[in-house]
Amino acid sequence: MKKLIAGNWKMNGSMENARALIANIINQLETDEDVLKKCDILVCPPFLHIPAVRHAIYGFPDLRFGAQDCSAYDNGAHTGDVSASMLRDSSCSYVIVGHSERRQYQQESNEMVAQKAAQVLKNDMTPIICVGETEDEREQGKAQEVVAAQLAGSIPDLESFQEIVVAYEPVWAIGTGKTASVDDVAEMHGFIREQLKELVPDADKVRILYGGSMKPENAGALLSTENVDGGLIGGASLSAEQFLAIARAAV
Ligand code: 13P
Repeated sequence: MKKLIAGNWKMNGSMENARALIANIINQLETDEDVLKKCDILVCPPFLHIPAVRHAIYGFPDLRFGAQDCSAYDNGAHTGDVSASMLRDSSCSYVIVGHSERRQYQQESNEMVAQKAAQVLKNDMTPIICVGETEDEREQGKAQEVVAAQLAGSIPDLESFQEIVVAYEPVWAIGTGKTASVDDVAEMHGFIREQLKELVPDADKVRILYGGSMKPENAGALLSTENVDGGLIGGASLSAEQFLAIARAAV
């Protein structure tokens, strides 16, 4: 399976920063085309920076871009929200849904995440559905139970194969510099693969990403672990050098 290296820029930077970052990524990819042949590269800027990124990568169709969230609804009276159809209209191909920061700060439930993922699919894009336990839950030995419930509740019903991506992001590893050990990642990703077999057709085709303090130094070991089909990268994706060093580690 081709690995997916996805950058989640979160709520960072100005328009000028976004333009500079994407230009830097493109410059580096132009001198190292092997990376794009061997893995899929995706950037997810803040909503307002999507048009600038779209403009910059015009003519570079292998470099994908997407959004960090979308509305659970089609359209209408949802002040401040952005619909999946608007994102499609802006040429997004992926949308992150159910990131732990949204589950935590915006009280997003599994049910809402499933509605958002269904909206993404309905608009011919791929949802990246995030799951992951907190430190307390891991210490109490509940990591698998929590992740199983999140998967069952957040993946919409699929009658036939449709591309979805699952991102396992242990909450305690996000932005902390702490990374799950390769053994823990292997165990959880294997568990997620088994759970997916109960939940979706063709579970073997679903890419399962790891996210949480992924850096060039640890990317090689994490990305060569069984059932790790890519990475969802926060902090390190704000540097073109670090982001592409992670992508090179994937190939
Ligand atoms: P960091 O890579 O900064 O830990 O963030 C991970 C993440 O939340 C990606 O969605």
